[in-house]
Amino acid sequence: MTTRRRFLLASASSLALLAITRSATAAGDDADLEALIARMTIEEKAGQLSLFADPLRLASRRINPDAGPSMVDSGLAQRIREGRLMGLFNGVGAADGRALQRIAVEQSRLKIPLIFGADVLHGLATVFPIPLGEAASFDPALAERTARAAAVESTAAGIHWTFAPMVDIGRDQRWGRVAEGAGEDPYLGALFAAARVRGFQGRKLSDADSLLACPKHFVGYGGALGGMEYNSAEMSEQTLHEVYLPPFKAAFDAGALSTMAAFNDLNGVPMMAHHRLMTGLLREQWRFRGMVVSDYTADRELVMHGVARNERDAARLSILAGVDISMQSDLYNQHLPSLVAGGEVPLAVVDEAVRRVLRTKKRLGLFDDPYRSLDPAAQRRDTRTPATLDLARESARASIVLLKNDRGVLPLRKTGQKIALIGPFGADTANLAGPWAPFSDMKDAVSLEQGLRNAMGGRATLTVVKGCDPERTIRGGIEDAVAAARDADVVLLALGETQDMSGEAASQTDILLPIEQQKLAEAVVAAGTPVVVLLRNGRALALEGAVRDAAALVVTWFLGTQTGNAIADVLFGEVSPSGRLPVSFPQSSGQQPFFYGHRSTGRPQTTAKDPYWKARYRYVSHDALYPFGHGLTYASFRYGDVEVGPGTLPWDGTITLAATITNTGRREAEETAQLYVRDRVASLTRPVRELKGIRKLRLAPGESARVTFTLSRAELGFHDEQMRFVSEPGAFDAWIAPSATAGKAATFELLGPAGAS
Ligand code: BGC
Repeated sequence: MTTRRRFLLASASSLALLAITRSATAAGDDADLEALIARMTIEEKAGQLSLFADPLRLASRRINPDAGPSMVDSGLAQRIREGRLMGLFNGVGAADGRALQRIAVEQSRLKIPLIFGADVLHGLATVFPIPLGEAASFDPALAERTARAAAVESTAAGIHWTFAPMVDIGRDQRWGRVAEGAGEDPYLGALFAAARVRGFQGRKLSDADSLLACPKHFVGYGGALGGMEYNSAEMSEQTLHEVYLPPFKAAFDAGALSTMAAFNDLNGVPMMAHHRLMTGLLREQWRFRGMVVSDYTADRELVMHGVARNERDAARLSILAGVDISMQSDLYNQHLPSLVAGGEVPLAVVDEAVRRVLRTKKRLGLFDDPYRSLDPAAQRRDTRTPATLDLARESARASIVLLKNDRGVLPLRKTGQKIALIGPFGADTANLAGPWAPFSDMKDAVSLEQGLRNAMGGRATLTVVKGCDPERTIRGGIEDAVAAARDADVVLLALGETQDMSGEAASQTDILLPIEQQKLAEAVVAAGTPVVVLLRNGRALALEGAVRDAAALVVTWFLGTQTGNAIADVLFGEVSPSGRLPVSFPQSSGQQPFFYGHRSTGRPQTTAKDPYWKARYRYVSHDALYPFGHGLTYASFRYGDVEVGPGTLPWDGTITLAATITNTGRREAEETAQLYVRDRVASLTRPVRELKGIRKLRLAPGESARVTFTLSRAELGFHDEQMRFVSEPGAFDAWIAPSATAGKAATFELLGPAGAS
């Protein structure tokens, strides 16, 4: 046993050393940092690898369980003077940050500046739609702009580093953190990951308004079994590489210089101890040069995972796996000195982690100007500016998805129509921001009711009735709601989730609306007035009964500061809705995990009606109620056949796929054309469809446009059974369609390499 353990230990540290030797050659231009490292004690080095939640400025916020050492008691200032931390997170404010930075650069021995981090996922004071909602825009350029605006506001408030974007793929809607990512699809996920990194980091990392990005959580967290928070993930290497890793790769290719190691174990190895992925893949294969931070106390959790004997062992495993920074547990401070002294962790491993931290601080310009982004005047100037508020409205509008619009009940008229706004989210102001917006300033955020009133002005004939609380009945609530519905020409029924029903630590066993809201919906719809259901949600929901059958269904996610104005813009037709589902809405909760790009089975259902001997459930067909990519607007579009030219893709060439799309409606609107492919015959089962391209077009009534997409063999490749990335010649189906289940396929052939038989 001892021998085996020693062997493993020796091999892990020599692998870590190998990675270091390779990257050290690239560090030639950092002689200043080498000189600094040479002067550091092991305690100071451990300090540069330790990060803590800001104990002073966080006092009033309940973000995480209080699991760290109490620095209020032990003296934050003293810790900074001693160089026992690399920075602080989730404290916001330029003036306070400046005061703390002054202690670091004036009173600590080595004068190394602190870095300030925060969870800025979709805005700081101004809140943009939750990332899942914004992904529904299918518009990465928009996400880049909101990330940029969030960066400007955050850096003005003294933040250098955001723990975002969250790029975990979310294929199981029971998992609450689906809200934080870009949905179920790796292609869309990669586009949004890269866009958000570009937006956060801006032109140059050292610019005062550049926010260091931290794509998280590396990796597989979204694969949590049963959608249960913090659960193990089990997946094939192919799925890991083709579904969960691509958004990370895209984020690093876009320049992200940090990442966060996930809580979960993957096929039995906790990510915090995953040397093969954290060092082998990340450092050696992908040549990632940034820093890896643990998730909150995740190193200590190796003990509970049962792979570390104690906290000291946990620290050893984490640093050897390649996790540079320990968040909140203090384990590196406590144990790295003795681990190095005992020869269990090579000093070179610690030095390399310190080098990565210092190099990143240097790239951020903190050594040149420790007070960058710590200017109270900038904070006053750049917080909640009119331009940022306008952008919040624009992005909120673009995130709204119209699922259904029977008999053209939408858009509404501003006058001459009596509107009843019913439901727990009509006047609500407590659930606008979403689950992960701890620094939001929502004091004049726009509720749904307020947005409608703003749009309708004095002419409003709007009755507002709550009907029920999100998870509780109100005495007489249903009766009042039914009376209001009967008296109205149209009902807006605002249902959904409170913001703590999704997000971290908010997994659900089913994804239904709470029963109290369902009952309200049944009674209101039965009153006979046309009902428009407005859903507030952080995940796809399973819609049932009266909600499913309502005349119109609109997904509004959590839209942030401008919620009400944006929804009113869409309801009254100021803008035609343009959002598309980034997650499939299933028929039923029990279909989870459910996503369009599942592998081909041997017994696919051919019609939704045939329940026998097919891959489906007895009472529920294997379909989405509303598929990925779906979203209506106030116009309609006709898609022409997919044109595949000569129908062949040469091995080293490209193929152009095209289709003509016509606006057959009566108003100008935006359409999102989506290219999907399917490999007809391959050595492994392949997804029934895979998204390979999106194009947005805006067309006037009667106008047509031709969209084109170009593919090469790399985009048709996959990992074979031996994990070699291969493209296999043969036939492929291609769709240019408005959703993942619509359209008519055309076929083309990938030809083999010249000379191959
Ligand atoms: C979350 C991270 C977050 C961290 C710091 C953790 O609980 O998993 O996403 O960045 O806390 O707040």
